[in-house]
Amino acid sequence: MTAGDVPERMQAAAFDEFGGPEVITLRTLPVPQIADDEILLKVWSAGVGVWDAGAREGKLVPEGAAFPMVPGAEAAGTVAAVGRRVTNVAEGDLVYVYGYTRPKGGFYAEYAATKAEYVAKLPAGVPAEHAGAMPTDALTALSGLDALGLSAGAWVLIFGASGGQGHLAVQLAKRQGLNVIAVASGAEGVTLVTRLGADLSLDGHGDLTEVLARIREVTPDGVDGVLAMAGGATLDRLAEALRDGGLLAYPNGVQPAPRERPGVTVQAYDGETGPERLQRLNELIEAGPFQVHVAETFPLGRAAEAHRRLQTSFPGRLLLAVR
Ligand SMILES: NC(=O)c1ccc[n+]([C@@H]2O[C@H](COP(=O)([O-])OP(=O)(O)OC[C@H]3O[C@@H](n4cnc5c(N)ncnc54)[C@H](OP(=O)(O)O)[C@@H]3O)[C@@H](O)[C@H]2O)c1
Repeated sequence: MTAGDVPERMQAAAFDEFGGPEVITLRTLPVPQIADDEILLKVWSAGVGVWDAGAREGKLVPEGAAFPMVPGAEAAGTVAAVGRRVTNVAEGDLVYVYGYTRPKGGFYAEYAATKAEYVAKLPAGVPAEHAGAMPTDALTALSGLDALGLSAGAWVLIFGASGGQGHLAVQLAKRQGLNVIAVASGAEGVTLVTRLGADLSLDGHGDLTEVLARIREVTPDGVDGVLAMAGGATLDRLAEALRDGGLLAYPNGVQPAPRERPGVTVQAYDGETGPERLQRLNELIEAGPFQVHVAETFPLGRAAEAHRRLQTSFPGRLLLAVR
């Protein structure tokens, strides 16, 4: 089922029990076999996200996953083999994938089997070396912008704008013609979101009275929507900037989950994939240079260390370089 030059065994980072970062170790596993509707990906790079820590802890285990469990929901790489019914990509294509389900293992591996419908060609403008850290957060950011449903010219406030999903949401929102107020983490985060095109960049760890005053200067009637990548007291304050009838959207996983409040509709969303969404994402990305900010890259053998780093503060994303 796999191409002639694909080995039978591969290196993968995996765990045999749920627990802390130390349960992830490098080992040799069989290269997964593909079904007719799947492709075999030769992984170049894989994103490391909080959802992977959820899988490792046994709190967010993908359907059908079994020990030894290979984490990793997203990757970029080349197509090493295609199943008989696959038509959207061909052997040798440079692609990216957000594997919504992954019963044959995740992407912390040299090879991974995934449904072809989750795979898209890498759009021009995304640096290939960082692409593995893009799929989940870019698709989820797109879901968030869809949930807000704002028209060009509207003002969106993105809280957590220098984080994984946030810094991609800033770029996608600008491409949809929105005005973006980016509330980022510290001076480094503010610099990042300014470079990515935010119309107003503010430090969410700064003086919130001043932050709200700056927001009111540019939006005296209030912002039209808030995308919240983090919750808690700061979000509660920032939500004061919403206009009456405004919408606050947040990805499931944000803790504490944002509360309903008078005059504001609160809506949760999830990252969704599929051919139509991947095509729409690619069209938006191809509108100009698109940055996937990688704070730190780890080799596959240091996946446990990457999971420890997840527990700290950093702008953008963490990445495993596999090839
Ligand atoms: N449901 C889904 O399909 C789905 C998919 C992907 C992600 N998610 C969820 O979406 C959320 C965001 O994901 P992510 O990958 O973007 O996580 P992330 O990179 O950790 O983003 C959260 C950001 O919020 C920032 N932040 C927190 N408090 C702040 C403050 N007071 N001022 C400024 N910035 C602040 C954090 O920076 P500091 O830590 O430096 O303050 C961080 O940059 C997570 O809860 C994740 O679980 C859900």
